[in-house]
Amino acid sequence: MKIGKYEIEKPLFLAPMDDITDYPFRNICKEWGADVVVTEFVSAEAVIRNVDRSLKKMSFNEQERPIGIQLYGSSELSMANAAKTAESYAPDFIDINAGCWVKKIANRGDGAGLLKDLKKLERVLSEVKSNTKLPVTLKTRLGWDDSNITIFDVLEIAYKVGIDFITVHLRTRQQGLKGNADWSWIPKIKEKSKIPFVANGDIKTPQDVEKCFELGADGVMIGRAVIGNPFLFKRCKLYLEKKGEYLSDPDIKERIKWCLIHFRKHIEYYGEQRGVPIFRKFYNGYLHGYPYIGKIRTEIMNLKCAQKIEEILISVMENPEKVNDIVHSDANE
Ligand SMILES: Cc1cc2nc3c(=O)[nH]c(=O)nc-3n(C[C@H](O)[C@H](O)[C@H](O)COP(=O)(O)O)c2cc1C
Repeated sequence: MKIGKYEIEKPLFLAPMDDITDYPFRNICKEWGADVVVTEFVSAEAVIRNVDRSLKKMSFNEQERPIGIQLYGSSELSMANAAKTAESYAPDFIDINAGCWVKKIANRGDGAGLLKDLKKLERVLSEVKSNTKLPVTLKTRLGWDDSNITIFDVLEIAYKVGIDFITVHLRTRQQGLKGNADWSWIPKIKEKSKIPFVANGDIKTPQDVEKCFELGADGVMIGRAVIGNPFLFKRCKLYLEKKGEYLSDPDIKERIKWCLIHFRKHIEYYGEQRGVPIFRKFYNGYLHGYPYIGKIRTEIMNLKCAQKIEEILISVMENPEKVNDIVHSDANE
């Protein structure tokens, strides 16, 4: 599959996730085998107002390539101007979000809100296309709800406008993240789509990835299953290649080692005050399978001091069984 100037067979994408797929985590995922990464979504309105935090979200390093900057918004003018700014960061593609289900975004017409007005979606895509030389891609859903499945119309629009590839989260907007992603759409979308198609939704194991490719996806995008679990990318890649041994999940020591590597990059990037609370989303993933996860998590979640958190993680890594010497909370498992 062609991604900008890269040609990657059966690419694995890291899904854009707000407050998750930031600069430190994208770098960790690349080290563990993610082929393509996308930034968190960035508001076009904030970009044109030069809001520091939004501009910072568009920064990346060379190791992350190929990388897309994802923009959201529904004003043609703002999206076009934001695309010009995004282009100045020199990503490999600009991804347009037409899938965000969060009420305050979708109800004002942004994200999945664009699926309620396909003419507007087309205008937004066209304006972005004509204001950047970069490839433009689209991330969307099956439709607004079960009675308004728009994916086939959106495929037509994407092709007409010259979108380079399309990612489909195989749920409707109404589902949010509930229910199951419906993979039975993969062959139907593949059949109709004249551009490459990346499948997304509930892909959690190497077998899931293989299945989605078998069903016809050109690329596969993984979100929640890699939060605190970047190891999954490598496991999927090895499984697909069928070379070497099937890679089992890293043990708790290895997981904590990577949690620490990530934590340090994260605190360096955000600073302690902002970074410590944001990182809380990752502990569950990294500590997955550890029998004393509840105790450690309760202890760490209450801490504001990065150094203290590091000390606890290092102690667990060095001596995972001696949990009672490390923490003193009464939390039950
Ligand atoms: C915490 C969180 C934040 C998300 N933020 C974004 C975002 O910024 N842009 C986007 O296109 N999708 C976003 N999504 C949706 C994911 O990219 C993905 O489509 C969804 O989680 C389904 O894939 P999964 O089942 O592999 O997690 C977000 C999802 C989660 C859980």
